Amino acid sequence: MKKEDLIVYEIYVKSFKDSNNDGIGDLNGIKEKLPYLKKLGINYIWLTPIYQTLNIDNGYDIKNYYKINSDYGTMKDFKNLIKEAKKHNINIMLDMVLNHTSTSHKWFKKALKGNKKYQNYYFFEKNINDKPPTNWQSKFGGSAWKYLDDLNLWYLHLFSTEQADLNWENNEVRKEILKIINFWLKKGIKGLRFDVINLISKPIKKPWKNNLESINENKSYTDGENIHKYLKELNEKSFSKYQNIFTVGELSSTDFKHFADYSNYKNHELDMGFMFYHLKTDYINGEKWSKNKQKNLKEFKEIIIDWQSYQQKHHGWIANFLSNHDQPRHISRFGNDKNYHYQSATCFAICYFFLRGTPFIFYGEEIGQTNLYNTKIEEFNDLETLNAYKKLQKEGLKEKEILEIINQKSRDNGRSPFAWNNQKYFGFSKNKPWLNYKNIYNITLENDLKNKNSIFKFYQEIINLRKDNKIFRTGKIRFLDNINDNLFIYERYDRTKKFLIILNLSDKKQDFTLENKGKIILNNYKNLNDDYLNPYQAIIFED
Ligand code: GLC
Ligand code: CA
Repeated sequence: MKKEDLIVYEIYVKSFKDSNNDGIGDLNGIKEKLPYLKKLGINYIWLTPIYQTLNIDNGYDIKNYYKINSDYGTMKDFKNLIKEAKKHNINIMLDMVLNHTSTSHKWFKKALKGNKKYQNYYFFEKNINDKPPTNWQSKFGGSAWKYLDDLNLWYLHLFSTEQADLNWENNEVRKEILKIINFWLKKGIKGLRFDVINLISKPIKKPWKNNLESINENKSYTDGENIHKYLKELNEKSFSKYQNIFTVGELSSTDFKHFADYSNYKNHELDMGFMFYHLKTDYINGEKWSKNKQKNLKEFKEIIIDWQSYQQKHHGWIANFLSNHDQPRHISRFGNDKNYHYQSATCFAICYFFLRGTPFIFYGEEIGQTNLYNTKIEEFNDLETLNAYKKLQKEGLKEKEILEIINQKSRDNGRSPFAWNNQKYFGFSKNKPWLNYKNIYNITLENDLKNKNSIFKFYQEIINLRKDNKIFRTGKIRFLDNINDNLFIYERYDRTKKFLIILNLSDKKQDFTLENKGKIILNNYKNLNDDYLNPYQAIIFED
């Protein structure tokens, strides 16, 4: 298998399928649904963190890297899942959260007791003038430093106060990390997703500097000085020793060049990476917690084009996606989940699925699962969301306005229980799920399969298209831009053949001549009009 052959399906473990009816998804639930995933056609599943945790950030705060979260099952369940998945030709990719540990991890606890060795596993800094060492901000709001009274020290946490950043400069830490990765590789996993991996290399020289332009800037530790060294070391001492392991890095706020360096096979770092710029096109002045900017398809499209073109030229490899567990559902965000549910779900699927790179499907998008559309703050769970709520309250916004913003932006939107059928709790569990999901349009797998327009069946079709046509996996890409802001048009080709992908990303009819474009191999509408595209119409021609 090659990296271009992967079709990855991300599972938010907590929300996929609850096998023992405690309201929380689990490993046996996933095992139960393997035939479903096989039918869909994917060949890899990425599981969000399954390790022991206090669940402050739903598993991204790890207490013990070697133990399974008891809400999700046991090590035996995990081994069975790997074994069963293999029978379905599906491989498992695990989420490696190595930038930080939970503050309940034994290393941190020892550090708190004053143990110098373990303090050096993290970033503990002296208290000078009762001010944090730098003005860096946590991604979840507030200072990135927490003061410890007893020790008269500050420690760094780029995320919540319960997620303390690890000191990768320390050789002991890197040894521990290699041990963790190798432990899981030996268990038979075939993929690694590295959480916020381009933030692990903090500045070598101390004292660290303040952010000057804006306190929210993250240049000091993004794509840091030693990042490529660390990744090459991981590659050499862990996954390169195993056959057929694929790696993907979450690359937050990176740039074109670093991205290409991380994912160029010649560099022996990672196979591919996620970038996020296209998902910030609805932020106003880079601020996430404000009302969505008016849809800007031009900007959205241009970012994809620029990134694709640069990475093609410099041998980078993009993990393409539009939704994940940190993002609102793309059908609600970029599409129109109310009036053009099927059309926009299928149009945006094609939009990313045939780009140069490896596609990552997010559980539930294959039936067009939508945002939450909550009416009360109590219905939300995510810590980042609850922090944002408090911040917006302090700023004096009215409850109604705050809820509007949160309904658009909350990460919980991407974490709703999968809606399998029309029973109570949509067949996810027999008991009340951990996260409330009203499912206002009653979108379930059961209903989708009854529709004459099934999104699930459309996903099966596009997966088969990728499998059957090498050009979609290894061919070149070329963009036909500047025709119309609402149209996204690209070609995948090699010396022998060409596919033309034409998408109307808007909810309005668009004039466009479609005569003589070749043989239609996919169309999300029944008909083809000679001179216009329907709302969210998506067509693939073969030439
Ligand atoms: C990544 C994860 C996110 C988590 C954060 C801290 O961005 O995807 O869910 O909160 O890292 O680990
Ligand atoms: Ca359960």
